[in-house]
Amino acid sequence: MYDLHEIALSLVAPKKGLLAADESIKTAGKRLATCGVESTAETRRQYRELFLDTPSIEKYLSGVILFEETLKQSSDSGVPFPELLEQKDILPGIKVDQGTEPMSDSSKETVTKGLLDLEERLAPYRASGARFTKWRAVIRIDGDTLPSAKAIMENAKRLASYALMAQQSGLVPILEPEVLLEGNHSRLRTKDVIETTMNAVFSAVDDIAVDRTALIIKTSMALSGSDSGRTDTPEEVADSTVEALKACIPADVPGVVFLSGGQSPDQATNNLSAIMKLAQKVGVPWNITFSYARALQSESLSVWKGEKDNVQNARAVFLERLVKVTDALPDVTK
Ligand code: 13P
Repeated sequence: MYDLHEIALSLVAPKKGLLAADESIKTAGKRLATCGVESTAETRRQYRELFLDTPSIEKYLSGVILFEETLKQSSDSGVPFPELLEQKDILPGIKVDQGTEPMSDSSKETVTKGLLDLEERLAPYRASGARFTKWRAVIRIDGDTLPSAKAIMENAKRLASYALMAQQSGLVPILEPEVLLEGNHSRLRTKDVIETTMNAVFSAVDDIAVDRTALIIKTSMALSGSDSGRTDTPEEVADSTVEALKACIPADVPGVVFLSGGQSPDQATNNLSAIMKLAQKVGVPWNITFSYARALQSESLSVWKGEKDNVQNARAVFLERLVKVTDALPDVTK
């Protein structure tokens, strides 16, 4: 039997982080469209291959979150992607939610789908090599009116139910209540919403006795909204983010990972660096690292453009970004 606490700790090992290569088919299509590539099962496989078969990624990545389609696909050399990752000592994970749907009484807020048949889906995922899972909930800020208490509560309950099922199936859950960047709100409003949401998540987690020592929290940074006209300094982001997380993440949680959420690769790198410095200075009880999709992949994608001849250069750009992001991480673990 695998020790879920140990797997969770491996995911937040020193100087390593996660690649979130788990864009849904729809989102992968949007990403491919940015560089003029048509989205088919084969081009999405090539897109995954670009990153997953980059030599030396194991120096920087502890785990990769895959999408269901990719779990069943193979590299150019015919090795199933989960196996390819295991050969590199990188833990394969899988996104298990099925996207969002509008809340019945509010078109602006959503709840995340996928609980109904989750139990039956988890065992085959594990048999395919997945060792951990992710569930993303989306929390939208609109002035003082959103998020509603109802949206927070319903998403928190679903995150907790998912986490319990994942643990019971021998898979580490990553609980991701993403607070969206979109909006004209202040950084302090984001900080408050992160705290309120995480408090609701941990209340739901404790209500059904999810093992807090065998889960990972994935969170947004506390940033000013993208329409606020304000760009926070990395130090401001670090102050608000570390203060928020210290107030709401229990000490027995092994790891906290960040999404990039629409920040540029440099912003996501510099903000993480400032967060890590402050977290070390003030002392936080959990390990912290990144779990980025766009901030790690977008530069490489625009070099690749779907062309075989560009793969080598695109991989070099990906590695360059991985080096920059992992340079932000401290050498020691908790
Ligand atoms: P971004 O880093 O692009 O925000 O993606 C991370 C993620 O996993 C969102 O669910």
